[in-house]
Amino acid sequence: MSIISPHGGKLVNQWKSEENEPLAKGKIEIDAMALSDLELIANGAYSPLRGFLNQEDYKSVVETMRLADGTPWSIPITLPVNKEKAEQLNRGDVAELVYQGTLYGFIEVDEIFQPDKNKEAKKVYLTTELEHPGVKKLFDRPDYYIAGEIQLTKKPDRNHEDKYYLDPAESRELFQELGWKKVVGFQTRNPVHRAHEYIQKAALEIVDGLFLNPLVGETKSDDIPSDVRMKSYEVLIDHYYPDNRVVLAVFNAAMRYAGPREAIFHALVRKNFGCSHFIVGRDHAGVGDYYGTYDAQKIFSEFQEDELDITPLFFEHSFYCHACEAMVSHKTCPHDDDQHVILSGTKVRELLKNGEKPPKTFSRPEIAEVLIEGLIQVPQLNHKLEG
Ligand code: ADX
Repeated sequence: MSIISPHGGKLVNQWKSEENEPLAKGKIEIDAMALSDLELIANGAYSPLRGFLNQEDYKSVVETMRLADGTPWSIPITLPVNKEKAEQLNRGDVAELVYQGTLYGFIEVDEIFQPDKNKEAKKVYLTTELEHPGVKKLFDRPDYYIAGEIQLTKKPDRNHEDKYYLDPAESRELFQELGWKKVVGFQTRNPVHRAHEYIQKAALEIVDGLFLNPLVGETKSDDIPSDVRMKSYEVLIDHYYPDNRVVLAVFNAAMRYAGPREAIFHALVRKNFGCSHFIVGRDHAGVGDYYGTYDAQKIFSEFQEDELDITPLFFEHSFYCHACEAMVSHKTCPHDDDQHVILSGTKVRELLKNGEKPPKTFSRPEIAEVLIEGLIQVPQLNHKLEG
């Protein structure tokens, strides 16, 4: 058995060296989210996308969670511009993609269209409330979408050590070198706690390797900064994982907080990185009370197994039980809730802010130390610790 095929069958590569820059007619100032999408299209993480969605694909993704040709795709990947810019550009133009004064790539304009953002919000986020950070972002971005194939000519700056940056072609090669055929992907935007570790290890029991893939792109301001989170994963790997079973690499996408839809997207992208399995626990990619605890698991039944071609591994809400003296879930433990260590994010935050470690049944002490240190450096943060 060889490593799993990329989504759509072929890994996209839209990376072009600077010597081959096309002659551009226009210039588009892009935001941080579009820059990360640009890179992830170019390096094949978003295969089979080769650019930002055209209207037909966009509508199809919004309505049916599939591209117009039927390939599953649950999150619209779009390039928003304002009216003035939309009026300047025409089909066939090549435009520079510039972020904060630096040129990162080009788009060959295929189409310029006005999306129905209310519909996008309702279908993708299941709400139009602006309190939802993904919906707020959607409406804050400009109102016209530019579609077209892109090329990346300069890789975005890195905020973490080089060794944590793997393109999908590189992670696939690495898994093969390690002799891993079955690899489970783990998405996270939070510091690692005991429940994360528990579900990762439970999953690892049935596969060859764990691809620990924290999202380090744009997150809402009260999420823990990615450098602090990366330290928590390093500590976990150093102390609690065997050397040859885990690969830690960053996932440079922006967080959408789209819950169920984002779980499908996260799984497909990890397939492109070479994962055969993907962990979906409680309220995956959720925020506030917008989604039911297991909605991000239920949505997988809207696809045929061979359509997604990555096996989701579902986990119940897990926690430590004093009577069992183990990590458990309601599925595996008969004891009453007074035996269970379930701490709210607010409670954990309070403890850490006061320099106190949460119980070691919730958070490894070595990891709590890293978080306390991180919190001292950015005390204004209103951290959310439990996913
Ligand atoms: S997420 O937004 O990236 O999903 P988080 O980093 O908290 O947030 O979660 C990472 C993964 O672990 C998700 O699949 C989530 O469902 C799962 N998870 C987080 N906490 C728990 C828990 N206590 N029990 C079971 N699964 C969990």
